Amino acid sequence: MTRNIYDQEDFFAGYSRLPRSVQGLDGAAEWPAMRALLPAMTGRRVLDLGCGFGWFARWARREGAASVLAIDVSAKMLARAAEMTNDPAITYARGDLEMLDVPAAAFDLAYSSLAFHYVANLEHTFPVIRRALTPGAPFVFSVEHPLYTAPSAPGFVTAVDGRRVWPLDRYLDEGERKTDWLATGVIKRHRTIGTYVRLLLGAGFTLTHLEEWGPTDAQIAQHPEWAVERDRPPFMLVAARSS
Ligand SMILES: C[S@@+](CC[C@H](N)C(=O)[O-])C[C@H]1O[C@@H](n2cnc3c(N)ncnc32)[C@H](O)[C@@H]1O
Repeated sequence: MTRNIYDQEDFFAGYSRLPRSVQGLDGAAEWPAMRALLPAMTGRRVLDLGCGFGWFARWARREGAASVLAIDVSAKMLARAAEMTNDPAITYARGDLEMLDVPAAAFDLAYSSLAFHYVANLEHTFPVIRRALTPGAPFVFSVEHPLYTAPSAPGFVTAVDGRRVWPLDRYLDEGERKTDWLATGVIKRHRTIGTYVRLLLGAGFTLTHLEEWGPTDAQIAQHPEWAVERDRPPFMLVAARSS
């Protein structure tokens, strides 16, 4: 199974302190935009890929989902998710999205929040997700925006006319990138927007929405420190349908 940074003590401790870990979905700035992409949950059999602490799984059930299969590769993330869950209709399973194996036509919604930029082999993962969905079922996911997964080293961030400028590093060179976030040398998988779209279409999905997320004016008014996120969007939100 993939060696996972989320099981490393210092990283896990840092991640556990983030607002999205403490407050759940309400602590995730992009959640209102993600939620707007989701269908009604009533009666749906939901697949949550890279579920982390399980905040989405529990929300989906509260909204009426019939069941949730929530998969993550990290034993620590799953242990915390299980501690916070008392619901027999949510199943947490340890699994690696690089080798995802789920039953065919068994789910009415696939969801993933900020996990796929850790996964190298989406050429395998996306077709498995498509087969796991019933015809026409939605697939909604977020990833770190490709402008974020191809950053230049921090020292290269410059100021032009008093504004911070973020140069890109080899945007078209896809693959492993190391970054220092909560721990040193965290490995992420950089791919371009075009590659995400081609992978989706190649797997037989119809793209229905693509959003380069940044905070709204109202959010910046509440959290002025988020204004910097408008310089380069931190997240890409995608919705598709299985055909
Ligand atoms: C940024 S966290 C997001 C957690 C949750 N989806 C959320 O939005 O709160 C990324 C999650 O992806 C999981 N992950 C990373 N690589 C994975 C892989 N290859 N297979 C399964 N899960 C993976 C991590 O363990 C972690 O829980």
